[in-house]
Amino acid sequence: MLNMVKGSRLLFMTGLLSFVLAGCNGDTEGEVTETTDEDTTEEVDSDTDEDSNGGLDVGIVLPTRDEPRWVQDEQRFMDALSDSDYTTEILFSQGSAANELQNVETLISKGIDVLIMSPHDGDAAGAAAQAAADEGITVIAYDRLITSTEAVDYYVTFDSLAVGEAQGQYLIDSAEGSNIPLYLYAGASSDNNAFLFFEGAWSVLQPKIADGTFVIANSSEAEALSDTAELTRDEMGSIMGQITTNWDPNEAINKAQTHLTSAGDDLKGDIAILAPNDGTARSIADTFASDNDITSYIITGQDAEKASIQYIIDGKQSMTVFKDVRRLVEDAMGMAITILDGNTPETTGSYDNGAKEVEAMQSEVIVVDEDNVQAELIDSGYYEASEFTGLD
Ligand code: BGC
Repeated sequence: MLNMVKGSRLLFMTGLLSFVLAGCNGDTEGEVTETTDEDTTEEVDSDTDEDSNGGLDVGIVLPTRDEPRWVQDEQRFMDALSDSDYTTEILFSQGSAANELQNVETLISKGIDVLIMSPHDGDAAGAAAQAAADEGITVIAYDRLITSTEAVDYYVTFDSLAVGEAQGQYLIDSAEGSNIPLYLYAGASSDNNAFLFFEGAWSVLQPKIADGTFVIANSSEAEALSDTAELTRDEMGSIMGQITTNWDPNEAINKAQTHLTSAGDDLKGDIAILAPNDGTARSIADTFASDNDITSYIITGQDAEKASIQYIIDGKQSMTVFKDVRRLVEDAMGMAITILDGNTPETTGSYDNGAKEVEAMQSEVIVVDEDNVQAELIDSGYYEASEFTGLD
């Protein structure tokens, strides 16, 4: 586990093969169903319902419906699959490794050949991946790596180190003067991505902490390591233990309130906040905005969630990192279809998951703030202008 994924981006080659889903499917009808752990199933299109073996082709398991990020993925899968001739079902695990295992068993019983899974807990998901592998099913980790198991065949992901670097760099580019209080927040330690985001952010922020541009406001562990450029996973774990949001907006509010209560005047005024994603950024931003001693804040995010795009337009969130989920879905389904067709998918590098090097396909990310929100998210057709207010 120790060196897991550290520096793994170096293994990536440039020149991603873009797999165009529509071009590979033909025009036949398909079926997409989506199911929650409560077993409600919604059929989107049911003209075709079985593969050549009489079962489902591809099972997709997403971590939770409670975060817009994953509902967005569900929608993009449904959009991409609406005219596919492969049968697919999407299940949500609602933040529980037990549900996740049950979901995978359900999909195995329906005869899937390929499992696409974004784990709630990377290590715990090993059991579910193993259950699938035991049945000869190809396992693709989606966005989040399934860790400490050999039972994962491929990984389709964004460049998560670059996400963290972009967040840290944004804070640096917005910084004026020195001794700026820096509040650090992180994702859940059960998610390998949370380490990658933090590692990326730390790689650019640490020199600016060491030179006195920023002063760490809310983590004694980070302060103690402020001269260390490259942190071990254990060191990151000790910092994240103090500043984790667990990807939960309410936990983020509680942490932010506690930090503000214990911060002296020297840690108020104009401040910078590393928030790991949009859901937590909005709740942390609201908490800081309601403190009279905070004069201004710069805050990061990621996912380009609609609510955060509105926050950016309204000047309440500074930036987000846009991860084009259409691209991720295209890569994942492209890979699945290649496998179903009996071929070997293209990959662009590999990630060490602690048990093996997992062949991976990685896509780039885009920084969005008020200056380019219109161009990147509206003009590009990702969202409709009518979904927001206050756009120029
Ligand atoms: C994803 C982020 C998401 C976070 C919380 C991460 O693994 O990469 O996009 O915001 O999980 O769900």
